[in-house]
Amino acid sequence: MPASSPSKKPVTPRRSLRAVKSDPVPPGERRLRFGEQWQYAPAPEAHDHLVIAPRHELFINGRSVPPTSGRYFASINPATEEKLTEIAHGDATDVDLAVQAARRAYEGEWGRLSGRERGKYLYRIARIIQEKARELAILETMDGGKPIKESRDVDLPLAAAHFFYHAGWADKLQYAFPGRTPQPLGVAGQIIPWNFPLLMAAWKLAPALACGNTVVLKPAETTSLTALRLAQIFQEAGLPPGVVNLVTGPGDTGAALVRHPGVDKIAFTGSTAVGKGIARALAGTGKRLTLELGGKAANIIFEDAPLDQAIEGIIAGIYFNQGHVCCAGSRLLVQESIYSTVLRKLRDRLQTLRVGNPLDKNTDVGAINSRPQLDKIRGLVQSGLDEGAELVQSSCPLPAKGFWYPPSFLTGVTASHRVAQEEIFGPVLSVMTFRTPEEAVERANNTPFGLSAGVWTDKGSKSFKLVNQLRAGVVWANTYNKFDPASPFGGYKESGFGREGGIQGLAAYVRLT
Ligand code: NAI
Ligand code: MG
Repeated sequence: MPASSPSKKPVTPRRSLRAVKSDPVPPGERRLRFGEQWQYAPAPEAHDHLVIAPRHELFINGRSVPPTSGRYFASINPATEEKLTEIAHGDATDVDLAVQAARRAYEGEWGRLSGRERGKYLYRIARIIQEKARELAILETMDGGKPIKESRDVDLPLAAAHFFYHAGWADKLQYAFPGRTPQPLGVAGQIIPWNFPLLMAAWKLAPALACGNTVVLKPAETTSLTALRLAQIFQEAGLPPGVVNLVTGPGDTGAALVRHPGVDKIAFTGSTAVGKGIARALAGTGKRLTLELGGKAANIIFEDAPLDQAIEGIIAGIYFNQGHVCCAGSRLLVQESIYSTVLRKLRDRLQTLRVGNPLDKNTDVGAINSRPQLDKIRGLVQSGLDEGAELVQSSCPLPAKGFWYPPSFLTGVTASHRVAQEEIFGPVLSVMTFRTPEEAVERANNTPFGLSAGVWTDKGSKSFKLVNQLRAGVVWANTYNKFDPASPFGGYKESGFGREGGIQGLAAYVRLT
């Protein structure tokens, strides 16, 4: 079905419901393809009120500062390929300045504040995020390509919720660790990815600050804008200078932060390859480390599952945020007896997904974050085809400019295929079958990852049994991709270690004596 593309298209009139097979088709008209009847008129979110400065500097010691090297790089809108702004390219010298500022703040004003006072800052930040939610959501969508309905309804409320939740902990840390005395670690270096730019910043900053640490944060190079807007919010909230510093730049900037001897802890979310390199770089240094890496989650659907609900969960699990989700349900394990029904329902539902302008409020699937990511998706799908899988794709037209990949799934996938083992990080589902619950568990666990999984069944006892057998940090039952700041998130095996959220997440930012 036609997508609402970023370019201004004439409004297509809504067609009458003549998709039912038994309806006669009058002469001269054609029968609508499945999904065509649900076409909506374009409903783009206005963004002309949003002023994006042509250049963005680093944020060090509470101030905007130019990069020592004088270099900048472009940040584009992946849905249009338009340049949005220039971002400072921070290097090792800038990282050093930021770490020094963070150290001074830690040893100065921030380090002396009571938990109660720290909490007040966090509450203030949470409230300002709520006030500026619309602006932040639009910026997130323009910079990263995700649909506005996701930035608006998922990223923003959760980002505020993380600050609120951790604000509540700031003066109650002794209750989180009964009988122990929690002390902050010092300066935390945090490196975040591009799939949930503001939310990942909130996940990392809120617990670090609640526990009394100071921070140097490096956003991902394709999506630095909302983190930089957050810096303005910190200024507005009166956060003392140096408590949070932002150094923008590519992977080298992150590597300089990892190597810096003045950092007490590194928290990283991103690819498994980079995560492994960071673990090697930190070995023997005494620096604390938490890693949240890739995933290859299995959504397991049993014959007794509520099927229509399960289809919605599968769709949300893989096509949410274009599959740019580390816990995406990128493998579907279907019980053999319901395979053909599930496949038919999935194929039909695929056609009803709206792909196109991420700023359109009706868009379900937005733009792929960058060209390299699009190339990676294409390459992995090709490997699946080469290895004998079959591709089913939505027939939706894609906008001419920008980076797009249609919602897709692969059938005939076997456990050894690359598409069953490697993270695709795109809107592509690999479908496989199983016969018994034991086989489902064995298949689900058969990857190097262990971040998340989903179980769909009418029988509670079956879910509970499976949950204990699945080697995954999060298991959802009869739902998918649900988050709460009070619920710890993190992986097993190559998906990393350490937890974010909940009491377990606080533990990553304190030393217990
Ligand atoms: P990446 O791991 O290179 O990037 C994540 C962050 O790490 C970015 O801020 C980046 O600048 C930084 N970084 C890169 N190299 C670094 C280094 N040597 N030292 C310190 N920091 C470094 O991920 P990339 O290249 O953007 O995506 C590649 C693949 O990684 C994706 O296709 C996906 O499979 C996976 N990925 C997983 C994520 C997750 O949430 N688990 C998030 C992003 C990517
Ligand atoms: Mg961008």
